[in-house]
Amino acid sequence: MKLSSEIEVLRDTVPNKSAEELIKELPQNATMRDIFDFCKRNNIHSLAQGMIELPPPKKLRDIAATICAGDENEIHQYRNRFGEEDYRDALVTLMQKRYEAPHITRDHILATAGVTGVLCSVLIYLKNEKGGSDKVRDLGLIVPFYTYHAKQITDVFGRTPVYVSSKEDFTPDWEAIHRALFEGNGLDLLIVTNPGNPGGNLWARDDLEKLIEMTGKAGCLLLMDEIYCDLIWREGYWSPVQMDKLPKHVIVARGFAKSLAAQSWRCGYAVGDPEMIDKLMKIHDPIYISVPWLQHAIGRYITNEYEDFDRHIKETGDLMQNNWKILAPAMQKALGWTPLEPSGSMYGMFYHHVSTDKEAIVHGLAKGVGVAPGSIFWPNNPDNTGYVRIHCGVSHEKAKEIVAALESAPNK
Ligand SMILES: Cc1ncc(COP(=O)(O)O)c(C=O)c1O
Repeated sequence: MKLSSEIEVLRDTVPNKSAEELIKELPQNATMRDIFDFCKRNNIHSLAQGMIELPPPKKLRDIAATICAGDENEIHQYRNRFGEEDYRDALVTLMQKRYEAPHITRDHILATAGVTGVLCSVLIYLKNEKGGSDKVRDLGLIVPFYTYHAKQITDVFGRTPVYVSSKEDFTPDWEAIHRALFEGNGLDLLIVTNPGNPGGNLWARDDLEKLIEMTGKAGCLLLMDEIYCDLIWREGYWSPVQMDKLPKHVIVARGFAKSLAAQSWRCGYAVGDPEMIDKLMKIHDPIYISVPWLQHAIGRYITNEYEDFDRHIKETGDLMQNNWKILAPAMQKALGWTPLEPSGSMYGMFYHHVSTDKEAIVHGLAKGVGVAPGSIFWPNNPDNTGYVRIHCGVSHEKAKEIVAALESAPNK
């Protein structure tokens, strides 16, 4: 299908714009931000973004307001470089109460500026430790990957990551992993996101244990991005934090941007061997100077309002799953896309069965909904990955409106 005829499909949905304007607004390599902005400008629902649309829990915001209005925490000052006591202690409590990780102590935890703060610190640590970018072996990413992991690696090292394929169902491709770790240059870092974004897949415990062993043998750091660890839809989630002794080469990155909808609060944390935590602090601190004072609010909320925290996570999870339950069949019916059942995260993927991701995106827009193209999560942004991704972190009313729009859209 030619671009112009793709765009023709949008004629009825956006009648006030010329084909040229539409092509400009939706270039061939449109990202989820382009699609989100396009939807906003043209009054179309968007599920392209990765931004949860629900507010943080009221009790958490109240605690933040009290801290902000009071004097006790001297919020004009720097925060402790490892993170404040109340935040780190709350995280230890979470490890014990929620994550089956009784061996994690305060020394294993570094407060960070979101999960991105962990990522950037690990990358810079590795570059410094090895004595420069050219001394570092390859940096690996499992495909499909979170777009910014690739960007951050490229920005820090001045070269693109090595992409390690997975199987069609997003389970590990052991041959590809073995090749990347032990053949050619080998890897100094492998990043794995669990649950996956965009895949919504979970790594089985056996597979993760095997990966930990293999990366250890290869002298490769394993960075687990577990930002979605609170958004799990089925049994069987496992994390290295549960090990009796977290191996020195494994670092886990977590945060509250998704589970507490605190995206701009920039409160995350790294879990690792205490020696590694110490080294990461020395990189993180001069870049970010402090993790925001909001860490006190999250710390106290977890410690004093654990039941509310638990309720919020459960309600958010139920909402996302209920949204997926109505959106998946409605999209399948209206667009012919085949849903892939997610096991966690905020997302759901579909096989779109048309010849390019862009064509699928335009069909979605013509039916009244914006979605993200698979291409942004694959190496070199191919025209056709066969996939699109939706985000389920919207209100149920909005999900129902999208279903109604899909049901009423004319067939073209
Ligand atoms: C896999 C993954 N890692 C990290 C982030 C960003 O995390 P933070 O906002 O805590 O830096 C996102 C946000 O979409 C994500 O999907």
